[in-house]
Amino acid sequence: MSASEDGPTFSTHSTTSGMVGGGFYNANSSPQWNAIEAVLPMLDKATNSLPVDCPGPVCLADFGCSEGRNSIAVMQRALTSLLPHTDRPVQTIHSDLPTNDFSKLFLNLQPGGKPVFESDRVYSAAVGGSMYDQLLPDRSVHLATTFNAIGFLSRRPVKTLPGYIFPNGPSKERANGFVAEEDRKAFAAQAKQDVGTFLQKRARELIPGGKLLVQVFGANETASTCNGLYDLLNDAVLAHVDLGEISRETYERYYQPVYMRTLDELVAPVTDETYGANGLFDIDQTKSYEIAVPFNERFQSDGDLDRYARDYVNFFRAFTEAVLSGALPETPDRGKLVERIYDTAVDLLKAHPDRYPFRYIAIAMLLTRAG
Ligand SMILES: C[S@@+](CC[C@H](N)C(=O)[O-])C[C@H]1O[C@@H](n2cnc3c(N)ncnc32)[C@H](O)[C@@H]1O
Repeated sequence: MSASEDGPTFSTHSTTSGMVGGGFYNANSSPQWNAIEAVLPMLDKATNSLPVDCPGPVCLADFGCSEGRNSIAVMQRALTSLLPHTDRPVQTIHSDLPTNDFSKLFLNLQPGGKPVFESDRVYSAAVGGSMYDQLLPDRSVHLATTFNAIGFLSRRPVKTLPGYIFPNGPSKERANGFVAEEDRKAFAAQAKQDVGTFLQKRARELIPGGKLLVQVFGANETASTCNGLYDLLNDAVLAHVDLGEISRETYERYYQPVYMRTLDELVAPVTDETYGANGLFDIDQTKSYEIAVPFNERFQSDGDLDRYARDYVNFFRAFTEAVLSGALPETPDRGKLVERIYDTAVDLLKAHPDRYPFRYIAIAMLLTRAG
């Protein structure tokens, strides 16, 4: 991965190399688990109605599994409903980018040398590739899922975002930057096309009647999951622009290639022919919701500002660092500069904890492969 005129380049159809590995994402992804937990009833509904009466293994695939803590817990839940309904073997697949750190996933699939899924009918595998490509054989998958991942775009829709580091723009309260409406629309269009492409690829892999559960962070009428968090990262990066450690040009080229969709924006490609996926799926259920954020709750109860600032910053460091680092020039100091930026974020948050309130809005849809 390297920084170029168009921004950092990563593997095919991706705009990040993945989360911070070595156990860091696993240790800092409790909010994502809370967001998954809220849609487990949708997962149960899907698993309980899978067509499992054809020969061969039943296949469950999770796309964007990262280091696997949450992905394995999802599979556990799916297997709990599925196994009593069938005596067929089950193939579980955890998939993420080829640059993802899969090492903890493999270890956690065999804790203490024993398979984590306690059944001799379950066989686990991992697949590296972009979820915007077909990764599994035609008509081989019964249930496909993705959690907190499809917000990461397949490509950078614009070369620069001169006034802010995130396409949805700053919170109204903080207003510490700007995103031109034309730019925001380019991201919104890319986000819809990405869902359309994801649906097309999964439609090939799923058997008719197979289920697809798509869940991701997003926005509603009152809030967006980017508010507060990216205001803080933006302020931290700008502090280092002011110190002369990051050029204005580098700042203008750097942005996180992620878009916060509304539920309408997530669901539109299922029926709108513009995105090439209309007619492939029927909609079973949709949901827009907000979850309680563990580090907010803890801070409310114990008032421990040091811990709050560390947990909050580690939470977003886990999913922003690869892109931030890739956007900075490849100098010997780059790693240390990244450290200093996140340290600055901790200092800013401790100095002004009320300035960067974070809320986690999520959206989801459960679909059935038509045909
Ligand atoms: C925030 S993590 C979510 C991990 C896990 N699903 C969870 O909910 O905790 C997002 C994951 O999406 C992956 N990702 C981003 N772009 C991707 C792409 N184009 N194809 C596959 N995975 C991608 C990242 O590598 C990362 O592991």
